[in-house]
Amino acid sequence: MTQRISVIGVGYLGAVHAAAMAELGHDVIGLDVDAERVAALQAGRAPFHEPGFEELLRRGLAAGRLRFTTDYAALADAEVHFLGLGTPQRADGLGADLSHLEAAVDALAAVLPARAGARTLVVGKSTVPAGTARALAPRIEQVPGAALMWNPEFLREGFAVQDTLAPDRLVYGVPGAAEEDPRVGMLDAVYAPILEAGTPRLVMGYEAAELVKVSANAFLATKISFINAVAEMCEVTGADVTDVARAIGMDDRIGAKFLRAGVGFGGGCLPKDLRAFLSSAEQHGVGEALGFLREVDAVNQRRRSRVVELARELLGDLAGRRITVLGAAFKPDSDDVRDSPALDVAARLLEAGAELVVTDPEAEAGAVRRLGAERFTADTEQALAGAELVLLLTEWGEYRDLDPERARALVASPRIIDGRSVLDLPAWQRSGWTTRALGRGEARSVPSRAGRPVPAGEARPVPSSEGRPAAVPVPA
Ligand code: UGA
Repeated sequence: MTQRISVIGVGYLGAVHAAAMAELGHDVIGLDVDAERVAALQAGRAPFHEPGFEELLRRGLAAGRLRFTTDYAALADAEVHFLGLGTPQRADGLGADLSHLEAAVDALAAVLPARAGARTLVVGKSTVPAGTARALAPRIEQVPGAALMWNPEFLREGFAVQDTLAPDRLVYGVPGAAEEDPRVGMLDAVYAPILEAGTPRLVMGYEAAELVKVSANAFLATKISFINAVAEMCEVTGADVTDVARAIGMDDRIGAKFLRAGVGFGGGCLPKDLRAFLSSAEQHGVGEALGFLREVDAVNQRRRSRVVELARELLGDLAGRRITVLGAAFKPDSDDVRDSPALDVAARLLEAGAELVVTDPEAEAGAVRRLGAERFTADTEQALAGAELVLLLTEWGEYRDLDPERARALVASPRIIDGRSVLDLPAWQRSGWTTRALGRGEARSVPSRAGRPVPAGEARPVPSSEGRPAAVPVPA
């Protein structure tokens, strides 16, 4: 049944959620305080790169089921209001900044009409510390007939549409955790097509729902830092972390996902959620329990320094050296550069005096903002031209598929650091490249016999990081 829905905060999460709710057949209004963003969305233009989103947006607009506003008064007749506001890291510490969320709750409460019975539902989707919903509820519930529930969002950038319309699970947080709470039925009606497709739905208390989200992100971050810590061991023992990850990932209990070693995690969620979780635990007096998250963060930061060290191992002093960085976004299929490892490494190289060229298929705006327009080139081949060292730091398909022979013809010196463990290093070595990769002792080579193709099956000595030679057969 069609419902009147509002989505407050149409950033990444909110905009996709609004368009997805219109796709389910609801009548949706999205609100943001950013008038430019609202104008873009209303004109059918996605303000960020997200596969499939613009089509969904345009479909909703064309069907007359989706519109955008900056005016809270326009939300008054909606029955269900989703809160999709950002909760960034506070400027003065590790905790989450809830000011946008709090301001939105107050602005919404001011326009909600009093209704008899539980008729207005406010649904928090933002990632928040445990205790937030309980603290915000009175501000909503002062309006007769209005009630708050928490329904965390698990979408991944790059898969946002699919994750919203076909999530792994729906989590509903209501005080008392009772299935028969009228809020549960109201949200079920909104998500009816998703539930009918068999999506599991879990009802729990406010705090549990809030903790599900931060725990999930902290677990994912821990998994990545775990394999990156193993990568550090691989570097000093000569092992290849991709071998280790492949083998441990075959154990169902461990699972193969999120075991890609490399320059580590970034983005607008994992790093800040990890820190907010730790900060919230400290506030509750159980900081020690989550103290290991500090180490998870530290391992992640160390990977960024390690890439710069590898660059120095290859070039010596970086001042004046022509270095190309492939990738600026925090991950492929996104133009998001928030806490991007690639951009962070690029900035460090620049600081060290390198003559830097950065390229990325989508993240030009973010890269230019951080590094300056003169450092950015949209064309991959132009970016490679004349490089003395290439760093692959975001694994876009077009970089994974680079032809080492063709790339070699473009650069000044064939040296590459694979910061995402995605290249077939022996193939690059056969094309004359000197390669380095995070955590791949066995797959490394020192300055190779430039350009001489190595016959299939020929063993080539590959010194490990301690200089201990290990005979590695070169695959056909
Ligand atoms: C993350 C979570 O995966 C979503 O479930 C969650 O909803 C979202 O945060 C959020 O809180 O809104 P996202 O930030 O889009 O989603 O990115 P991820 O796909 O989790 O990747 C995060 C970072 O980890 C990226 O920089 C990626 O390159 C890195 N990563 C990922 C690795 O270094 N290794 C891996 O094996 C996987």
